[in-house]
Amino acid sequence: MNDRMLPDSADARYGAVAMIRRLMLDQGLVHWRKYTIAFALMALAAACTALPAYLVSDFVNEAYLNRRFSTVVMLGVATMAVFIVKGFAVYGHTVILARIGNSIVAENQRRLFAKLLNERISFFADRHSSEFAARLSTGAAAANQVLNQIVTAIGRDFFTVVGLVAVMVIQSPMMSLVTLVVFPPAMLVFRHLIRRIRSIAKRQFTGGTRIIETMQETIQGVAVVKAFTLEDRLQRRFDANVRDVERESNKMARVANRSSPLMEALGGIAIALGIVYGGYRTIVLNTPPGEFISFITAFLLATQPAKRLARLNFELNSALVNVRTLFEIVDAPATEPLEDDKPPLAVTEAGIDFDHVAFSYRPGEPVLHDLTIAAEAGKMTALVGPSGGGKSTVLNLLLRFYEAGAGTIRVDGQDIAGVSRRSLRRAISYVGQNVFLFRGSIRDNIAFGKPDAREQDIVAAARAANAHDFIMAFPAGYDTPVGEHGLQLSGGQRQRIAIARALIRNAPIILLDEATAALDSESERQVQDAIAHLTQARTTVAIAHRLHTVIHADRIYFIENGAVVESGHHHELLRRGGRYAAFYRMQFKNQELAEQALAMSSAG
Ligand SMILES: Nc1ncnc2c1ncn2[C@@H]1O[C@H](COP(=O)(O)OP(=O)(O)OP(=O)(O)O)[C@@H](O)[C@H]1O
Ligand SMILES: [Mg+2]
Repeated sequence: MNDRMLPDSADARYGAVAMIRRLMLDQGLVHWRKYTIAFALMALAAACTALPAYLVSDFVNEAYLNRRFSTVVMLGVATMAVFIVKGFAVYGHTVILARIGNSIVAENQRRLFAKLLNERISFFADRHSSEFAARLSTGAAAANQVLNQIVTAIGRDFFTVVGLVAVMVIQSPMMSLVTLVVFPPAMLVFRHLIRRIRSIAKRQFTGGTRIIETMQETIQGVAVVKAFTLEDRLQRRFDANVRDVERESNKMARVANRSSPLMEALGGIAIALGIVYGGYRTIVLNTPPGEFISFITAFLLATQPAKRLARLNFELNSALVNVRTLFEIVDAPATEPLEDDKPPLAVTEAGIDFDHVAFSYRPGEPVLHDLTIAAEAGKMTALVGPSGGGKSTVLNLLLRFYEAGAGTIRVDGQDIAGVSRRSLRRAISYVGQNVFLFRGSIRDNIAFGKPDAREQDIVAAARAANAHDFIMAFPAGYDTPVGEHGLQLSGGQRQRIAIARALIRNAPIILLDEATAALDSESERQVQDAIAHLTQARTTVAIAHRLHTVIHADRIYFIENGAVVESGHHHELLRRGGRYAAFYRMQFKNQELAEQALAMSSAG
């Protein structure tokens, strides 16, 4: 089982009573006007259920004792009218409650999503996205379910039972007393079963999340699944997930319904006592039969709502487990607010300084040690070095995806930890190592870089990124959908759209993480030209593996094992004959070998 999903079950905030109170005050109370109408309609419906039971006594006495047909007909018409009124009342309160419910679900989904937008990247790194899918759908629905269950239990079932018990008491107080003795033992049994229900519901939720997780991963990784023929393995994993949930659901069915036999038995005892006593009165004491029949009718009508009331506690408890999964996320303090209360970054030149910065993703595993870098305003600074050396981490810190552990990072002399995240990120255009496109058209995706982008801005950015021509080659042009995660485009096309998205932003700082890696040499050259042109007056930090793309950088930092090994201009570093020179020669040699091979094959 996954512990982090359902922490500390003893947390007082997530006790049943605390959660119900919170749901009612926090989410139900705003709808009090609608609830009032719904309650009134439910009371009316309850009265309409009780009234015919009451009228039965008049009917029996009129038909069998007084034998007055006209009164019987009148009673029939009255009963029919009562049922029609009840029909409208039920329609009214059902629709009202459903509307309140939908608005509660929507509100909870909004809250959860807003919360997610204020969480830091590492918050998502150690969770699976399907966990949030489950919380968003099941959790939000459960909040509505709990409120609805309580309201209908009180409004419909409770009123109905009260109305029918009133009829029973009016018709025969003594008989009522006899039948009601069975209630106390029933209550005792119910209390016993609740705890088990909660633990089963918890496991059901976790298992349900596993199912979604496996399915989502399979779909997202479908190419890997097929290429590695993982079908059988994933099917087995999925089957195991499904089996777990099935088992828990069966257990739930058993436990939750364990009360039924007992309830039926107790009901049987009650009605048997009533029948015997009522028959005795009619036969031996000669009281009119109307009351007796009316009493039995009321009693029978009351058993269904009474049973529902008894089960309420079970259902509430399993729904509350799901509500908790929602509250847990909403309640935890936001790990990364946008900090609109902090002063905004005031960009003048956009010079960047890393001053003795140290950082680790995980405690005890330092990734950057005492790193000092200066990216001069308006210049191109390149970070190169072996894989895993910490280059992308530098950009992560500059974007404040993570906070530096020691040292300071400054933009124009301002410590970025002291300014609002929103203002910092607004000053930055970023093209990451993994391109992500949103569902929608190419135009939408470029326009994400700048909310108020005009058509000509979009086209200009696409041209600069060398994307315009391939976009226009699609029949739908800029309206071409990119598909989920941009899967309907080639890797290089995706990359160029991401570059266009960054270019249109027109920010003073540009961060490129292997931005041209997926392009062929010709497109790469064109994009390099575009980037060179557009980065002229801007501070650029570019990471590149293919070193010829950074030869013209104003300053190159060679980063290895989380530290700057050397820095300088390309020629300077080559002359020095250090790590960069070795790295460069290695690449150059590979390239040379490739060219030799090419020459040989074309000659052969
Ligand atoms: N989210 C993360 N959590 C934990 N460790 C991480 C995380 N991201 C990166 N690392 C680790 O930090 C180190 C530096 O990673 P980084 O991504 O900065 O390398 P890089 O220089 O960009 O490499 P590449 O050239 O392959 O992109 C690596 O050892 C990596 O395993
Ligand atoms: Mg990287």
